[in-house]
Amino acid sequence: MDGRELVRSIKVFGSVRGLRTVRAAWRQRRTDAWGLPPKGAERARVPGLATEAEALPGGGIVRFARSSLRICVSAGGAVFWGWDGAEPLPSYALAGEGPEPDPRASLEPDTDGGWRIVSERVTVAVSRHGAVEVRTPGGVMLRRDLPPRWWEPVTGADPDRGAGAGTAGASADGPGAASDAGPGAPSADGPAVRAVARWVQRSEVPADARFFGLGGRSAGPRLRDGSYRLWNTDPKGGFVPGDDPLYITMPVQFVVSDAGSHLAFHDNSWDGLVTLAEGEEGAGSGHDRPGTSELRMGGGPLRCWVVVGTPARVLHGWAALTGAPALPPSWALGPQHARWGFGSAREVRRVVAGYRERGLPLSAVHLDIDHYDGHRVFTVDRERFPDLPGLATELREQGVRLVSIVDPAVEAEPGNAVYDSGRAAGAFVRDGRGREVHGEVWPGECAYPDFTDPAVREWWGGLYEERLRQGFSGVWHDMNEPVAFAPFGDMTLPRSARHALDGRGGDHREAHNVYGLAMARAGYEGLRRLRPDERPFLFSRSGWAGMQRYGGTWSGDVSTGWPGLRASLSLVLGLGLCGVPYSGPDVGGFDGSPSPELYLRWFQLGAWLPFFRTHSAIDAGRREPWEFGPEVLEHARVALAERERLRPYFETLARLARMTGAPYVRPVWWGTPEDRGLRDCEDAFLLGDALLVAPVLTRGADRRAVRLPRGRWYDTATGQAYEGPGQVLLDAPLSRVPVLARAGAVLPVRGEGDGQALEVWAPAAGRTGGGLVVRDTGDGWEPGEIERYQSRLVDGRVVVERVTDDGVEEVGVPVRVRGL
Ligand code: GLC
Repeated sequence: MDGRELVRSIKVFGSVRGLRTVRAAWRQRRTDAWGLPPKGAERARVPGLATEAEALPGGGIVRFARSSLRICVSAGGAVFWGWDGAEPLPSYALAGEGPEPDPRASLEPDTDGGWRIVSERVTVAVSRHGAVEVRTPGGVMLRRDLPPRWWEPVTGADPDRGAGAGTAGASADGPGAASDAGPGAPSADGPAVRAVARWVQRSEVPADARFFGLGGRSAGPRLRDGSYRLWNTDPKGGFVPGDDPLYITMPVQFVVSDAGSHLAFHDNSWDGLVTLAEGEEGAGSGHDRPGTSELRMGGGPLRCWVVVGTPARVLHGWAALTGAPALPPSWALGPQHARWGFGSAREVRRVVAGYRERGLPLSAVHLDIDHYDGHRVFTVDRERFPDLPGLATELREQGVRLVSIVDPAVEAEPGNAVYDSGRAAGAFVRDGRGREVHGEVWPGECAYPDFTDPAVREWWGGLYEERLRQGFSGVWHDMNEPVAFAPFGDMTLPRSARHALDGRGGDHREAHNVYGLAMARAGYEGLRRLRPDERPFLFSRSGWAGMQRYGGTWSGDVSTGWPGLRASLSLVLGLGLCGVPYSGPDVGGFDGSPSPELYLRWFQLGAWLPFFRTHSAIDAGRREPWEFGPEVLEHARVALAERERLRPYFETLARLARMTGAPYVRPVWWGTPEDRGLRDCEDAFLLGDALLVAPVLTRGADRRAVRLPRGRWYDTATGQAYEGPGQVLLDAPLSRVPVLARAGAVLPVRGEGDGQALEVWAPAAGRTGGGLVVRDTGDGWEPGEIERYQSRLVDGRVVVERVTDDGVEEVGVPVRVRGL
């Protein structure tokens, strides 16, 4: 580290902590210098030529000179392939065992010496060199994964000294492990972890394809040419578009092209790098340059799932594979307010009263680390919050819930009850010599629970009992990349740190990206055990493929500024396409003080996103809607009122996300991916099927261009109808952002009192429309029932009917017709 870095670290972390983090970072470096295998000689390998194939249900195994390929098409149409014996399990992403193979599909010889599998939804061809091509049933290429290349450590002259210890070492990591190194520990002269094969694979997609996904990316949602790292990372302060990677990375690509859309998931949690290059069409010359994606992984299995179909079908297939999104309790769809540094119960009361006195709805208040005693997780500062359960009850009577931050790092200080119990359970991550790995976080020197150990998850989940006793209704997982402050190098655990990896044993290189996911599982399962009658409310800063099973996420520390506002939308859209439908930004941005205009535009965006929460850093300006002058307050009030009016629609979207995997917030190309203009539109989104929201993302704008998908759309403010596809210029005064409704749409809204009503937008002449409604059944587990409505024009009048198995029925609630 040079002097500049030292100065920076002291500036960022304060002088005492600055020096401590420098020490911690050096310690980490030393741990890895010892614990990781030295870079030795490597040998490159490619599969070589195919020699034989064996048919199995759904596909089979193709053997190559130097590898083998297992390939299988599932009954739902998802394609799995794995090299070198890789199977679908074990997997942190999959919800179950993986889908059943399609019994009607199997390997058959292809014309050019390769093999193919023909199924109803997809055809897969394997070339004799080992390229795997996924095609539409009509034979059009969607994706071609070229033969991979591995680099393997050369064994012999013992460059791979620790080989074997990597798996055996597992036993030393779990609870109950002796505090000495245990039987699996490496010998004193060798590293704990194995040298592993790294690999690279190039894939091709159609020349017109666009890439999306890869987790939460700030510079999307369309992922332009460049490299994207797969390593969950705290960006060290406020981020802006282009800061990459962030807290949630996933090897999940969503690819949209004229030929169709597909999702490709490389089920491998190791550090990796994806390099994307969009293709180019040869203008009819027949010389298209395909789009390419190159994936380089530092280790781990080479296996992939490909799900093809319309965007809706792809997300449905993805949810079937990795699990249905958790359904947030209904209150979590209302407006929420957080701040790092409320400071005291009195200040919390003051803020809640501020909302109440101004007649502004508020669903929840979130308490950050400053309500802890000395920043220690699962404690309360009793001076500032003398009676937290009392405060929770008092707020609850006003319809406001309390949500608690939960950080994974536990202050490593004997006498800290959580630390003592974790230590007794052997819950903390250790290094290759069997010593607890420590890092600097908010409370000081901390130990890290190994959430990849089932017994540790159970222990940790039990700790949430204390949170429930304090009166909290939900949890907010933070710092779980996991973070260990460091002025240089990675702000996380040493790569050689050991993890249980659910019995397989391994190190942080493999466990890092699933740390937040496994913590979410621990928290979710704990809450389910402790309070079985209520759906848990949990959202997590870090995570991985499958995290939706346990809850949602938020932007993390998005920088206050117009670029940060744009990044907020990019994250929500990208995560939705990776199967995580519930998310939203820190409204107003995390740091600094937004201008009134920026705050308002952020608020107006947030009001249309699933997770709608204002939040800011301890030294940042205020974020309450009344802190920006009377004009902003009035406009914010309108946004809040509209959010509340649409709560039944949000509840429906939450249910549909759980039932179908479709995110609430979708790119504008969702229903018409063949519309190329829409694929490049990044500043608007569909909210469910009915609405198109066009937030204002630039300063000083009072109008904005909006690109419409095909069909008729109504400006919900003016009632004016527009015909898509095409672009229109709409008014966007400070008082609102343009929102359009699809002609024919039927959506549930709040009616008089607590009742519901249906809002219907007139179908275009000669056309019909409709919508799905799932009514709220409270915060428990009662299943929702889908109601199906259709709308049509009869003699210039709009008729809405409920469609049932037996025919059509009258609608039982008031209907509000718009757009006539
Ligand atoms: C992290 C979180 C932020 C939180 C802060 C203090 O920066 O991203 O939301 O306020 O830690 O806990």
